[in-house]
Amino acid sequence: MSKNKVRKLSNSPFRYPGGKFYARKLILPCIPKHDKYCEPFVGGGSIFFAKPNTKVNILNDKDSELINTYIQIRDNVEDLINLLDGIPASKELHKYYKLDYSPSNDLERAMRWFYLNRTSYSGIMKQANCYWGYGDKYSMRPENWPKHLRTTSGRLKLVKFLSLDFQEVIEYLEEDFFLFIDPPYFGADQDKFYSCSFNLEDHYRLSEVLEKNSSKFKFLITYDNVPEIREMYNWCTSIQDNEWNYTINRTDDQKNKKKLSDGYKSNRYKGKEIFITNYDINNVSGVEPFVFIKQLSLF
Ligand SMILES: C[S@@+](CC[C@H](N)C(=O)[O-])C[C@H]1O[C@@H](n2cnc3c(N)ncnc32)[C@H](O)[C@@H]1O
Repeated sequence: MSKNKVRKLSNSPFRYPGGKFYARKLILPCIPKHDKYCEPFVGGGSIFFAKPNTKVNILNDKDSELINTYIQIRDNVEDLINLLDGIPASKELHKYYKLDYSPSNDLERAMRWFYLNRTSYSGIMKQANCYWGYGDKYSMRPENWPKHLRTTSGRLKLVKFLSLDFQEVIEYLEEDFFLFIDPPYFGADQDKFYSCSFNLEDHYRLSEVLEKNSSKFKFLITYDNVPEIREMYNWCTSIQDNEWNYTINRTDDQKNKKKLSDGYKSNRYKGKEIFITNYDINNVSGVEPFVFIKQLSLF
């Protein structure tokens, strides 16, 4: 039997709206080498999964259902796989898990969250906008979930999870961390995606708490390219413009019912964001992407 080696960039266990999956290759070269890593707004963690693990990793998100699911994947992955075993991706079950199912423990909560996340339109979990959005042709099929869960479980072993407001996390950190910070966008649309809302005051509060603690750590924050944010972060060292293609499904697509039908795949969009840092972004050696090697049987 002959075997080939396939190098593959490691991936999030989730589909996540506003995730940085498509920007991974732009962001990694801007991250300086570090031993301690923290994401105060981890979401689907595209950047955490794309870079090598460090000795200390703190991942936080205010969404406690998301964090519970990460913890179950880290600590109880085989039990989670057993609970998901044999459950097909179907519109009826999506409705059942969204509206009727009452989990009785943390493992069942994680199973429900994971099932809905993998089968919902663009991974949007906010109850009001959580629509059926699975298609055999473009979604990861349930028979492939266990393998993916086991791989990500391994990556999470060295992670400490928190489910707090970002300010508590940033103030709690000791020195020398690197922080990748990806808050909800300044644009109001973001409220449609996430279970926790983030208002204008929160955006200002984030800038203030970062400025106050800026000498303790290095950070890179990604934001939409708008004058208000440039102004809010005018105390930083670098503000760099970036562009990439992505396929996030937009709220206006959701209003347009025909696009919510089975098999619909969103259009590609152009991401235009700024990377803001408290270090010189043009003078960084950057971290290498994390790749795992898959043995591929040809016969
Ligand atoms: C843009 S998403 C992060 C996406 C992530 N970087 C990825 O690649 O998937 C923003 C996240 O911030 C979280 N969030 C909202 N308000 C928060 C708060 N006050 N403190 C911490 N997390 C918050 C949301 O639940 C959401 O997961």
